[in-house]
Amino acid sequence: MTERELVDLYIKFFESKDHKRIPGASIIPENDSTILFTPAGMQPLVPYLLGEKHPQGKRLVDVQKCIRTGDIEEVGDATHLTFFRMLGNWSLGGYFKKEAIQWSWEFLTGKEWLGFDPEKISVTVFAGEGDIPADDEAAQIWMSAGVPNERIFSFGMKDNWWGPTGATGPCGPDTEMFYDTGKEPCSEECKPGCSCGKYFEVWNDVFMEYRKTEAGTYEPLEQKNVDTGMGVERTVAMLGGYKTVYEIGVLKPLIKRIRELANTTESTRSEKVIADHIRSTTHILGDDQGVVPSNVDQGYVLRRLIRLAIRHGMKLDIPKGFLGELATMVIEIEGEEYPELVRNKALILDELEREEKLFGETLQAGMKQFNKMLPNLLKNPNKIIAGRLAFKLYDTFGFPVELTADLAGENGMTVDMDGYNKAFDKHRELSKQGAEKKFKGGLADNSEMVTKLHTATHLLHAALRKVLGDSVKQKGSNITAERLRFDFLYPEKMTDEQKKEVEALVNSAINDKVSIEMKEMHPDEAEKLGALGFFKDKYGDVVKVYTIGKYSTEICGGPHVENTSELGRFRIASEKSSSRGVRRIKAVIE
Ligand code: ALA
Repeated sequence: MTERELVDLYIKFFESKDHKRIPGASIIPENDSTILFTPAGMQPLVPYLLGEKHPQGKRLVDVQKCIRTGDIEEVGDATHLTFFRMLGNWSLGGYFKKEAIQWSWEFLTGKEWLGFDPEKISVTVFAGEGDIPADDEAAQIWMSAGVPNERIFSFGMKDNWWGPTGATGPCGPDTEMFYDTGKEPCSEECKPGCSCGKYFEVWNDVFMEYRKTEAGTYEPLEQKNVDTGMGVERTVAMLGGYKTVYEIGVLKPLIKRIRELANTTESTRSEKVIADHIRSTTHILGDDQGVVPSNVDQGYVLRRLIRLAIRHGMKLDIPKGFLGELATMVIEIEGEEYPELVRNKALILDELEREEKLFGETLQAGMKQFNKMLPNLLKNPNKIIAGRLAFKLYDTFGFPVELTADLAGENGMTVDMDGYNKAFDKHRELSKQGAEKKFKGGLADNSEMVTKLHTATHLLHAALRKVLGDSVKQKGSNITAERLRFDFLYPEKMTDEQKKEVEALVNSAINDKVSIEMKEMHPDEAEKLGALGFFKDKYGDVVKVYTIGKYSTEICGGPHVENTSELGRFRIASEKSSSRGVRRIKAVIE
C-alpha cells in the first residue's frame, strides 16, 4: 500500500462514519506561541478541543504534516523521522471511548480496511496515577471488541497519557495499539512499548477529558473529546513488511541518490539523517507560513537541521552543494500533495544555498581559531583538549564538536567529551529556563489577553492594508499573553507616519466600540465578501468569517472578544525586518 492509498482509505473509512474531512494546517502553528512546530494533528484543533465551535461540526478527519525534533538523536533508526504525516479522527464533544475504540478495531482488522490479523494486536490503557483513575472503561471496550485480557496492558502517565503540547492545555489518558512483528521477545519484561522492535506502535486514541492548568493540576473538561494519531510513514512501512521507513515514499529515492553521491552501496546512519533532514527542511522552508534559518526559535531548529545534513554529507564525502538537488527531489515527489512546495521552490533552493555558504564560512572561521589555539594545545602533555575549549569553539564560532574531535585526532590529541557535555548541558539548562518562560500564555490556554490580542491582530492586518496597500499579506502570527507578533510581506521599512496612521486606525476601531460578528459560509462566499484569508487551498467547505464592523472581515477559527471596547489602547512596540521581503511588527494593548 502506498502512502496515498493509506491516507485515502483512512479518510474514506471515517467519512463512512460521518466525519468531515478538513485540510491539514500549516507546519508552523498560527496564533499559538506555546510551541515551535505542529507536532501532532490535534495542535491546530486546540481551540476546538477547548470548546470553540468548529465550522465543520463535531466529527473531523484529516492528515496533518508534523515536525518533531524532541527525539532528533534517534533519527536514523528504523522509525524516527523529524518530518512525518499523521492521520487523525476527532470527536469534539461528540462520540467518546466506545465508538473511538470500536472504529479503531474495525479499521485495523476489517478485511476491506487494513486487515491486520486480530491475534497480533495488543493494546495498552491508562493504569491510573495521582488523582486520575484507571481507564477500566477502555479496557472493557477492548475486551468486548475481542482483545483478550492478556493482550491488554496498563501503564501510567509516562506511557498512556497524551498532552498538553505546551505547558497547559487539553490532555487525557490514551489507549495505544501495537502490532506484534513476530520477533522473539527481548526479555521477560518485553511488552508493548518496548523499543526492541517486537511491538510496533500503530495508533493512539487519546481521550481528551482534562485540561492541565498553570498550577499543574488536571481539571475535567466540560467537553469530552477524542484525538487520534496514526503515523503514515510508519504504518505504510509496516504494512509493506519493510524494516525501516526509509524504504518507502520519497525517502527511498533520496537514499538511492545519496548513496550514488557518496559513491557507496553501504547503508549508513548518515544517509538516513540526510534524507530525513532534507525532507523536513524543504517542508519548513516551503510552508506558506515558512521560516528561514536564523538563531532563534523555528529558524534555529531549521538551521540545525540543515547544518546536520551538511555535516553528515561531509562524513560520507559527498561533494558540496548537494542540498539543492535533494530538495528538488522532495519538491517534485511531494509537491502534488503539498503545492506550497512548488510555489515556494525558488525560496527553498535560495535559502539552502545561502545556508550552505554561511556554514562553509563558519567552518573556515572555526578551523582558523583551532589552528591559532593549536601551538598551545600541543604543549599540553596529556594531549587532551579541555571540554570548555571545545564548547567555546562551538558556542562562539558555531564549530561542531565532532569536527574539533577530528582535528584533534589529526594532531594526535583527544577532546574531553565529558567536560564538553557538562558545559553543553549547563548552557542548555539555561536556555531551557528561557524557553519555559516563553510557554506561559498562548492561544492554547485561551487566556483572556491572548483573545484580545487576536482580535487586535485582525484590526492591525486590515489597517496595514489600508495604509500600505493591498500587497500586504500575512506571513505569520504569534501571540503570547504579553504581545502580538505579526509578519507580513512588504518590501520596505515603515515610516514613523505610517506606523502612527496604523495605530490610529486600530484605536479608532477600539473607540468605536464595534461588536464582532461571526458567520459560517462557503469559502467562495467569503471571498465575495472580500474576507481576508490567504491560504485558500487550506480551507474546507465551511469557514468562519469574523467581521469587525467596517474595519475588518477575515476568515479565521477564532476565538475573539465580543466587542472592540474590551481591548484598551493599541501600540506598535517595534517594526523591523524578519527575513527578506517580510516585516515583523510587535504590538501591545495597554
Ligand atoms: N495526539 C496523539 C498523538 O500524537 C494522537 O499521538
